[in-house]
This record gives sequence, structure tokens and C-alpha cells, in this order.
Amino acid sequence: MQTLITWVLILCFVSPCFCERLMGSTNTYNVIDYGAQGDAKTDDSQAFLSAWQKTCSAQGASTLVIPSKGVFLLKKNIILKGPCQATNIKIQLQGRITVATQNAWLGDKSKIILITNVNGLTIDGSGGLIDGFGSSWWLCKKCPRPSVLSFNACNGLSVSYLSIINSPKAHITINGCVGATFSHITIQSPGTSPNTDGIDISSSKNILIKDSNIAAGDDCIAIIGDSSYINATGIACGPGHGISIGSLGRDNGHDKVEQVHVYNCSFTKTTNGARIKTFQGGPGYARNIIYEKITLTQAYNPIIIDQNYVDLKNGGGVQVSGVTFRGFKGTSADDKAITLACSSQGCFNIVLDQVSITSSVPGKPASCSCINAHGTATSTVPNCTSLMK
Ligand SMILES: *[C@@H]1O[C@H](CO)[C@@H](O)[C@H](O)[C@H]1NC(C)=O
Ligand SMILES: *[C@@H]1O[C@H](CO)[C@@H](O)[C@H](O)[C@H]1NC(C)=O
Ligand SMILES: *[C@@H]1O[C@H](CO)[C@@H](O)[C@H](O)[C@H]1NC(C)=O
Repeated sequence: MQTLITWVLILCFVSPCFCERLMGSTNTYNVIDYGAQGDAKTDDSQAFLSAWQKTCSAQGASTLVIPSKGVFLLKKNIILKGPCQATNIKIQLQGRITVATQNAWLGDKSKIILITNVNGLTIDGSGGLIDGFGSSWWLCKKCPRPSVLSFNACNGLSVSYLSIINSPKAHITINGCVGATFSHITIQSPGTSPNTDGIDISSSKNILIKDSNIAAGDDCIAIIGDSSYINATGIACGPGHGISIGSLGRDNGHDKVEQVHVYNCSFTKTTNGARIKTFQGGPGYARNIIYEKITLTQAYNPIIIDQNYVDLKNGGGVQVSGVTFRGFKGTSADDKAITLACSSQGCFNIVLDQVSITSSVPGKPASCSCINAHGTATSTVPNCTSLMK
């Protein structure tokens, strides 16, 4: 018996893989073992890709580790591609990832990290950070600028304790995913940084974003074309442009958003709060949207439907209906507390309930302005006398 144990121990030492299989433990792939330097100078993109290949093609559960002691520089974009052989993939981001400045960047300029076609992925970012080094990219607003982390066609995704700062463009994009939970996400970029959306959601379903802090130069969360059953709860947004549906109506026929529930969120010094924006004359709809239990601190446009975002003059029009704003409390940064600017075809079933917004500007009372908006307002201050039945 003792000899057997000795032999197993020796085997474990010479072949960790054998041992893992024997013990039923997870396969772990550390980027350091695949050539990553983590010295903040060497481009580690190839090492990340090599470690990913192993992680993805492993049998059973497998984990990619970006360890805590390094600062891993990416000079090129990386694509972590599935489908994978491994059934349960985890990425542990314990160290820092930094992105080269615009001048030193050698890769594609649309997405820095793209994760595509990987199902059942878990990302744990505890202790880690991704710094997009956006300041060098923001100088040229019209130049192509990449988003930091993009998910495409990843079903059953779970991301927690992830911090991303200073993205050249959007921090996180989610496209074509069914079933995802994001929790304890920290996003931080200056309010003046151009187009640095916090989280963009498109063509996705059953997405929950909760308990997160988002400070950005554009929408904290933007829900765009063909998305449904999207929840955002416990989000502190600011600075930023609010939690927005849209813009809708730009992309012919694909701009449908429904079943959105924004609950227990705060807007602090944002340029908008609860916002629906559509191009004039574009196709699509936004319906069954609820914004509920919202705290406002000097937010511009805390409640806004803007159907005149840009006039495309191609007829039709995005239909806005079934939108509830309930339990809003706090201050707006100027008098425009509620703006419901609907297109000539009108917005319907708009519900304002238990809304109490005061202007933080002395002598400028908060006001409500409605154009072609139909619905009801109960216990709402400022009053909305221009809201039609
Ligand atoms: C979103 O919230 C609704 C209503 O609270 C709930 O029924 C639904 O399960 C939630 N969906 C997700 C993906 O969290
Ligand atoms: C609201 O969100 C905050 C985090 O921003 C959380 O601490 C609190 O428990 C939440 N409350 C409810 C009722 O969900
Ligand atoms: C609505 O508010 C305005 C401005 O505060 C006030 O002048 C007006 O009397 C109010 N109307 C109703 C019906 O309460």
C-alpha cells in the first residue's frame, strides 16, 4: 500500500496532468507558463493566446490564470475563440492588463479583447484590473478606437468583480449572448472622455447587471438593437449619460428593445438618467420598459424620452409604448426634470408614478414637458399637465 502511495506521489510530481485527472481537479493554465512576462513592457498577447488554446481544448473544467504579480501589456488585440472542448471555463484575472498607447498599438482597432462563441464562461476579476490607457486614444475622437472587452455569442456567461478603467471607447460590449450575469463591476473613465460607454448590450437576451459602479464619458449602460429581458439593478451611475435604451432606429429593422427592468439605481451628476433615444423616422420599437426606485443627485434630464435624436427622414418611426417611471427621488441639475418628446405618431402608455424631483438650481423650479406623449401621471412632482390621456 505504501509503495502505491509513493508511486502516485512521484507520478504527480513528474506529471501534474496525470495527477489532476486522478484527483478530478481543474486544469489550470497560467499565462506565465506560456511565455507572458508581466513586466509592463513586453507584448504578452501571444502568451495569452497560447494559454487560451490550452484552456479551451482541455477536457472537463479548466481555468486560465492571469496572476497577481504581473502587469501584462497588450500591443495587439486578442481573440479568445470557442467553441471549446472544456465544459467549464474560468478566467481568473488577478493581475493587471494594460493596453499600449495609440502610437504603439499594433493590432486591430475595434476590440482589444474579444471573447467569442464560448459558452458557460465564468470570469472572476478579483484583485485584477484592465487599464485601457485611453488618454492617448481620446485625443483623436474621429480615429478608430477599440472597446476593451467584448463578448460575442457567449451563452451562460458570468462575470464578477471585474474592474476596467480608461477605455479608448466602450468598456464592455455584449452582443448575441443569451443568459449573462455581471456583478460587482467597476468601470471608471473621466466624464469628458469621448464615447466611453460603460456597458453596451445588443442582440442579447436574459442579461442581468447588478451591484456595480459605472463612471464614464457616455452611457453607463446602453441597450441597443434586438435586446430583451435586460435587468440592471444596484447600479451607481455617474458621471455618464445615464442608463439608455438606444439609440434606436438607425439600423433598418433590427431596433427592437423590450422587457427592460432598471431597479434600485442612482444617477449622480449625469447628463441624463432614465433615457430612451430614437432617431427620427427609423424603424423598430421600445416597449415594456420599467425604471423603478431611482435616486437622483443633480442629474440633467433625469427622465427623458427623446425621439428627435437625429432625423433620418426615412419614414416610419420607432414606436415607444409601455414605459413606466416609478419611484424617482432627488434633484435635477436644472429645471428640466421630465421631458417626454415623442415623435408625431406619439408614445403610448407612459406611466409616471411616485416621482419627486426638485431642481438644485435656486429659483428654478423643476418642470415637466411633454410632446405627443400619452399616459398617466400619479403622485408626480413636477406635475405633467401636458401629458395626454
Ligand atoms: C429581471 O427582472 C424580472 C422582474 O423582476 C424577473 O422576473 C426576471 O427573472 C429578471 N431577469 C433576469 C435575467 O435577471
Ligand atoms: C440597492 O442597491 C444597493 C447598491 O447600490 C444595495 O446595497 C441595496 O441593498 C439595494 N437595495 C435593494 C432594495 O435592492
Ligand atoms: C402644475 O405646476 C405648475 C408649476 O409648478 C403650477 O403653476 C400649476 O398650478 C400646477 N397645475 C396643477 C394642475 O397642479
